[in-house]
Amino acid sequence: MCKPIIIAIDGPAGAGKSTIARSLAGKLGFTYIDTGAMYRAVALWALRAGVDLSNMLGLERLAQEARIEFSGDRVLLNGGDVTAAIREPQVSEAASKVSAVPGVRRAMRDEQRRIGLKNSVVMEGRDIGTVVFPDAQIKIYLDADPGIRAGRRAKETGASVGQVAREIAERDHRDRSRAEAPLTQAPDAEYLDSSGLSPEAVEEAILKIVRQRTSN
Ligand code: DC
Repeated sequence: MCKPIIIAIDGPAGAGKSTIARSLAGKLGFTYIDTGAMYRAVALWALRAGVDLSNMLGLERLAQEARIEFSGDRVLLNGGDVTAAIREPQVSEAASKVSAVPGVRRAMRDEQRRIGLKNSVVMEGRDIGTVVFPDAQIKIYLDADPGIRAGRRAKETGASVGQVAREIAERDHRDRSRAEAPLTQAPDAEYLDSSGLSPEAVEEAILKIVRQRTSN
């Protein structure tokens, strides 16, 4: 059996990772894994269960026990559909805090590696090319101008651009400055700026990189 291929796509919120990664996985017949959804699911469980976000041990336990599954476009937590609930603003905020806890990251990383050992995947997040799969065959760092990223997220959520800009600036700062697996570009990742590009153009650029790297 061939070794599974890992395509790692990292970058800040609103850079277009999810749209591109989902479509790319569909085209290549790979499994799409949204690792942000996994941190969001743990955060949602913590909020629902009343586990304080400063309780590192409690959060680690939840992360270890959480049964997170992807079923088509749906995200399931312990068997329940949480696809819409994990996109609520308070969950975004909580996910950014929960994802800074080392024990939570360990549990998510182990689960992500388990998935990638069995399947060819397009996996998107913040630390896929740096920590989860440092040996991934293809690594992309997808970025965009902060104003454009805020505009995209505002369109998705219906909130004001100013409000979203403040929220993602705060989350990006937390994601980049945390001690454990901060958002950073892997030295061997291809940098792509999606600011002036359509999703189709970004996808084509990535497919070109995939073709180059897999033919070598
Ligand atoms: O991509 P997203 O906005 O759904 O991610 C939610 C939060 O989880 C975000 O604050 C960053 C964090 N995250 C992370 O730390 N590592 C990942 N691999 C994916 C997401």
